[in-house]
Amino acid sequence: MSLFSKLRCALTLGQGVLVNLPEPKGDEPPFQLFAQWFEAAKQCGIVLPESMLVASCTPEGRPSARVVLLKEFDESGFVFYTNYGSRKAAELDANPWASLTFHWNILQRQVRIEGRVERVSYEQSNAYFQSRGRGSRIGAWASHQSHPIANRSKLEAQVKEFTQKFEGQEIPCPEFWGGYRVIPHTIEFWQGKADRLHDRYVYHRNESDSSWQIDRISP
Ligand SMILES: Cc1cc2nc3c(=O)[nH]c(=O)nc-3n(C[C@H](O)[C@H](O)[C@H](O)COP(=O)(O)O)c2cc1C
Repeated sequence: MSLFSKLRCALTLGQGVLVNLPEPKGDEPPFQLFAQWFEAAKQCGIVLPESMLVASCTPEGRPSARVVLLKEFDESGFVFYTNYGSRKAAELDANPWASLTFHWNILQRQVRIEGRVERVSYEQSNAYFQSRGRGSRIGAWASHQSHPIANRSKLEAQVKEFTQKFEGQEIPCPEFWGGYRVIPHTIEFWQGKADRLHDRYVYHRNESDSSWQIDRISP
């Protein structure tokens, strides 16, 4: 971490851990605060600040969780990309609810997001897919994510096959690959403080008019 990043990190820490966070205002949507915290995490030099735990659940109530990368967010939701044949996809398609958790340890911050899940359009997935390196695009074609594979040679053979198939051509986004958007109904911001007297603000979306109710909850 550069000296500049360290100084910026100390300043951000000062705003959260040492000095109280400003109380959230009225029914302000949470996206601005999320954007500020995400930017602070990026500026601090945290490795992969966009990594988040995504938890899904089978219709029978059996949960599972894994790390993915946040690629886009705005008022419509938080988007990550994956293989639609994977275990998480099977769970999300059968039971379209998820939770996301970010932990930015150096800032003593956690953000928890819960909401309904939908697939993003093919056009949006393709736009992101085309921004990836050629190797990653071929990798997406070659991998049946979460399914058994005999050995690494088999995976490498599939990579070779798709490398030859697409030689000299654009690589389209596979129909079995794309994004999920988590449309939040609840977002909690957690700021670690001394003596475990942490700050916690929970934003709940009001279904009737999409306004946000903000509660401070006990640490
Ligand atoms: C730092 C990190 C980032 C990851 N990013 C993604 C991602 O953006 N999309 C994805 O499908 N898997 C990603 N993975 C792999 C997943 O954690 C997981 O192994 C994979 O998606 C299969 O999960 P599933 O079998 O539960 O569907 C990432 C793993 C790590 C450790």
